[in-house]
Amino acid sequence: MIRGERLAILRGLPKVDLHRHLEGAMRLDTLLELGRKRGVDMPLDSPESLGGVVCYNEGEPRSLAHFLGKFHDVWYASYADVERVAAEAVYDAAEEGVVHLELRFSPEHFCRKTSLKPLEVMRAVASRARAAGEEMGIGARLLITFARERQDFDAWKAIVDRAAEMADEGVAGVDLAGDEFGHPNEEFVRIFQRVADTGSLRATVHAGEGTSAAQVASAVERLHAQRIGHGVQAIDDEAVVSLLVRRGVALEICPISNHQTGCVHDLQDHPLPALDRLGVRVTLNSDDPAIHRSTINDEYDVAITRWAYGLADLERLEMNAVEAAFLDEDETEALRDRVRRGYQESRGQGLS
Ligand code: HPA
Ligand code: ZN
Repeated sequence: MIRGERLAILRGLPKVDLHRHLEGAMRLDTLLELGRKRGVDMPLDSPESLGGVVCYNEGEPRSLAHFLGKFHDVWYASYADVERVAAEAVYDAAEEGVVHLELRFSPEHFCRKTSLKPLEVMRAVASRARAAGEEMGIGARLLITFARERQDFDAWKAIVDRAAEMADEGVAGVDLAGDEFGHPNEEFVRIFQRVADTGSLRATVHAGEGTSAAQVASAVERLHAQRIGHGVQAIDDEAVVSLLVRRGVALEICPISNHQTGCVHDLQDHPLPALDRLGVRVTLNSDDPAIHRSTINDEYDVAITRWAYGLADLERLEMNAVEAAFLDEDETEALRDRVRRGYQESRGQGLS
């Protein structure tokens, strides 16, 4: 089967994306328009010229540091701009066949070089993302990202406290992202204790993306992470793998991102299949689709073409994501039914 046919079938499958950054999911056309409006110093001649800077391009260095340099914070001038990119990210996910999206964002990212305020950004993103999800008939939840480099703990405490009050607006938990080489988990124990103490906010932590299995273990044990962003280095330590299995901690794996950041050298040798065989709850996610120039369906295509995964394997990964979603029991049950039904309907369409 040719790639285009596979992608069309994959698009029709009901997918759960637990790991997508709003900052990395913005349309190039929109960035171009917002950049021109603000007169930012970027190559704004065309989507192609802008993409040369803000997207990952073939031949560029494969390193986490290079990749993190792609996140520019110069686009937004108003809450309306923030609302617009939030809505578009949800529309685009729905277009890819995502039925439950957990969209993460750093309120502080949208405030740099602007007069916007983090708590107001949270309100703007949550209200528009939720409304866009309802419009498209998909579930949308928000996760608040803290960047390891920032460490503005007073601001973070206020954000955690507000996030805990925003469950009805779709805010389900928090995330830790950024440079895990320079800023290990130990620096964030107190703020993540505050998250756990809310009793309602869930936690996911980017860990063991490029560093080590030990950082995966400490994210679970010291930061109370219920899921791990990437966590691919866990494969190096049997004890960490058993910790993940025992606690049912899901790994939010984003293969194309792992390849572009150099955390995995060859997609063929990605640790996902091995972790899957060992019983770890592995899931497929998109990370920063606009930067990677990919969609969630490309991630599933990697599973098919590189690891010889079939429809039953994809369904298993999808069910892992359903069980790991930051939803309450009734919502999980409804999502489980929706995904099962979608897979049943897809049988006989060409994927085996
Ligand atoms: N790692 C760390 N921080 C990030 C990433 C990532 O893959 N994507 C966006 N922020
Ligand atoms: Zn990420």
